[in-house]
Amino acid sequence: MAVEEHEKPASFKTGHERRCSYSSGLAGQVAVITGGASGIGAATARLFTRHGARVVIADIQPSLGEKLLKELGSQAEYVECDVRREEDIEKTVNTAYALEGRLDIYHSNAGIIGCVGPIDEIRIDEYDATIAVNLRAAVIGIKHAARVMRPHKRGSIVVSGSVASLMGGMGPHGYTISKAGLVGLVKSCAAELGPFNIRVNMISPGRISTPLTAFALSALAERDSSSVTVEDIDNIVAKPSILPDRLLTELDVANAALYLASDMGGYVSGHNLVLDGGKTAVQVLGAGGNTWYTKYIPMLRENGKRGLQ
Ligand SMILES: NC(=O)c1ccc[n+]([C@@H]2O[C@H](COP(=O)([O-])OP(=O)(O)OC[C@H]3O[C@@H](n4cnc5c(N)ncnc54)[C@H](O)[C@@H]3O)[C@@H](O)[C@H]2O)c1
Repeated sequence: MAVEEHEKPASFKTGHERRCSYSSGLAGQVAVITGGASGIGAATARLFTRHGARVVIADIQPSLGEKLLKELGSQAEYVECDVRREEDIEKTVNTAYALEGRLDIYHSNAGIIGCVGPIDEIRIDEYDATIAVNLRAAVIGIKHAARVMRPHKRGSIVVSGSVASLMGGMGPHGYTISKAGLVGLVKSCAAELGPFNIRVNMISPGRISTPLTAFALSALAERDSSSVTVEDIDNIVAKPSILPDRLLTELDVANAALYLASDMGGYVSGHNLVLDGGKTAVQVLGAGGNTWYTKYIPMLRENGKRGLQ
């Protein structure tokens, strides 16, 4: 169905007006962030409130949630919400909606590493539990967010993916499958909800040092009967980067969420925004840089430009 067949949203502006009104501000807006008590979700809650939003933090860690509320003040609420349970997500969305009679942003961010180990040893109960948090919960979240956003003909849904959504070998099987599944979910829902002015996007970060990463490494170490240190975590987190002297931080991911959630990303939908410093986009040949630029091309030039024509 063509966009023109739908009633235009109240905020619809044309041409010049629209170009001049992009804003990173979230004043008066209401956001739900699942897994908002820790790591990336907590950083995003901080950034969204700083930009004026009221934020509902949905998590299963009440002590961390309460601690964050003390920091964020009256702009934030904590809701105990196990994203494996549809009734919890439904209650969370309804709580958020009741605050101002609107839900502008739903950030499906709660995630776990889940099952680890080789495919021929995978425990299907653990696999199901991984999918329940990382994929099924996003389906439920979008279902309920769309329910309240659609009548207002506006909204932004942001899903936490991972570089594991793009490539194998970036995480355990269950994790990789769940994150790759989110790509389909985001595109499918972007197609349905776009005509209602609801954008659906995904953020796929590389590794950051959060409790999730620490858990992943300790789970692997446990399997191998080895130990893992803070230095190991720092080294592994630093490894994926091709940008010197720069690690990915929770704030980088929160900035991406702000971009997608706000007017700044107002023409972006169905997109998987990869935050990996280019790691999955390039193949670096040779240590210390890409030898195409540092070695082979100068070598060919010296040899009379053979191969350059
Ligand atoms: N840290 C990384 O390197 C990294 C990289 C790529 C993607 N991600 C993704 O980012 C998201 C956030 O991860 P993080 O690194 O901030 O980890 P984190 O462990 O700091 O935060 C995850 C949050 O999800 C919550 N959660 C887990 N199970 C839940 C459930 N059943 N119901 C409600 N909440 C639940 C946890 O309590 C926690 O607060 C995840 O989806 C993760 O897959 C993380």
